[in-house]
Amino acid sequence: MKAVLMDDYGGPEVLYLGEAPDPVAGPGEIVVDIHAASVNAADWKVREGFRRDDVKLTFPHILGRDFSGVVREVGSGVTDFAPGDDVFAVIDRGREGGYAEAFAIQAELAAGKPSTLSHAEAAALALTGLTALVALEDAAALQAGETVLIHGGAGGVGSFAVQYAKHVGARVLATASAHNHDYLRSLGAEDVIDYTRQDFTEAVSECDVVFDTIGGEVHARSFAVLKPGGRLIHIAAAPAGFTAPRDDVTVIRPHVGRDRAHLERILELVAEGAVRPPEIRRMPLAEAAAAQELSKTGHVRGKIVFEVR
Ligand SMILES: NC(=O)c1ccc[n+]([C@@H]2O[C@H](COP(=O)([O-])OP(=O)(O)OC[C@H]3O[C@@H](n4cnc5c(N)ncnc54)[C@H](OP(=O)(O)O)[C@@H]3O)[C@@H](O)[C@H]2O)c1
Repeated sequence: MKAVLMDDYGGPEVLYLGEAPDPVAGPGEIVVDIHAASVNAADWKVREGFRRDDVKLTFPHILGRDFSGVVREVGSGVTDFAPGDDVFAVIDRGREGGYAEAFAIQAELAAGKPSTLSHAEAAALALTGLTALVALEDAAALQAGETVLIHGGAGGVGSFAVQYAKHVGARVLATASAHNHDYLRSLGAEDVIDYTRQDFTEAVSECDVVFDTIGGEVHARSFAVLKPGGRLIHIAAAPAGFTAPRDDVTVIRPHVGRDRAHLERILELVAEGAVRPPEIRRMPLAEAAAAQELSKTGHVRGKIVFEVR
């Protein structure tokens, strides 16, 4: 099969389109012919060797954490899928391989893809939606009437989070640069703060929840806008050596596990009309290096998705 391979850590030039062995379905696995695969912010970081001491890659390595496609083969013990079924999935932690024409994944991590979503839309919603749900539904337990500030509202995770929070009945505030404000309002944000022109701590106060997808100094300054008893949920790192300046708020960096239940929750929200896919920029696998350079700018609106076939 064709796949985007890398033989070493490095810049975008280490990525090349080549041949990799076709996967076979082990017990409990399905082989999926990938139609669309996501580009995630983690991908260029893994490529550059970020956290290489914690997560050792075996080369040649294939990046990519979520995808949508069609089941080609089922392994022994798989009863919930058959060849020809449309599925989407987030690959288990510690494994990658979505930048390819096929992948063998545990069937229990995949969910059936409805015909109302294209493969690109399903891929765009998979890890982003799962992460937003783990953060706002599971960790924050966001409630109607609460005020939530979402940092990075125009990103992949943020696009889902803004819609979910609006659906729950929260008052949704979000940060983004000006060219994304109409997009964020269309997703349900009530107030949008242009973080390039205004210090969000001067525009916002008394939040019940801050969802931080940016990290660094944004994390540090977020404490100032929380009410006592508030929750700071973050999926990007705090500054090195940072200590929380308040003990009357709860800080959670949730473990984002992978499972079918969260994917089915995404589908439920889509079916209800509560959430729609993010804006998608479609690219071919052959442009993986360019896609990662775009992702690395940190200013992609919505999601980049590879159209594989
Ligand atoms: N823990 C996990 O399992 C997990 C899972 C998924 C993602 N993540 C992490 O979560 C982070 C977000 O992921 P993502 O996929 O949503 O990222 P993304 O799509 O790459 O986010 C890009 C967006 O961030 C916005 N942005 C950049 N700097 C900003 C700032 N200072 N303030 C407000 N908005 C800003 C940009 O909007 P503008 O152009 O308007 O600036 C852009 O729309 C990444 O660090 C990723 O690695 C973690």
